[in-house]
Amino acid sequence: MLNVAVLISGAGSNLRALLDAADEPDYPAHIVAIGADRDADGLQHAADFGIPSFSVPYRAYASRDTWGEELATQLRAWSPDLVVLSGLMRLLPENVVAEFGPQIINTHPAYLPEFPGAHGVRDALASGAGQTGASIIQVDDGIDTGPILAQERVAIEPGDTETTLHARIKPVERRLLIDVVRRIATGDIDLS
Ligand code: GAR
Repeated sequence: MLNVAVLISGAGSNLRALLDAADEPDYPAHIVAIGADRDADGLQHAADFGIPSFSVPYRAYASRDTWGEELATQLRAWSPDLVVLSGLMRLLPENVVAEFGPQIINTHPAYLPEFPGAHGVRDALASGAGQTGASIIQVDDGIDTGPILAQERVAIEPGDTETTLHARIKPVERRLLIDVVRRIATGDIDLS
């Protein structure tokens, strides 16, 4: 069984889908803890599933590095085999990547390397492109630069807004995320 810690910043809808998948008896991964960089709404999903959660509020720390030290301390307590960034809207500090990498993955609402960063959906829409996508990547020290583990195209429809487009991307992200975590757990994907 693969022990997974998940980090979020927002609603955690993709986290919720992963929790539902992990609740199935034949799913080979177990969510051991859920953390956030703020008082995220999505922490409620941890409570719903009886899973421990923690918050390390970014703004309470003097620097990214001191925040990262506390985040690493919290994660370490759960000895995760894999850390999933599921809508964590912060660049992970180097110390966290050094300690938990290469076993860290991230979901991103665009077809990387297209539209990296915090506004992947907005940037795709603004570009005038006819399609964007969803990606699951391995995390390195860059901004959405790590190796791509899975990705799929999503069409941009006339009249799309950031909200409507993101709402069509998320189900694709969820499916890819659940599949990638399963494949890491079964050894089909080797992150080392
Ligand atoms: C997801 O679309 C995820 O890919 C994105 O935030 C959303 C979180 O939604 N992450 C990024 O943009 C990271 N650069 P959720 O909180 O409802 O799961």
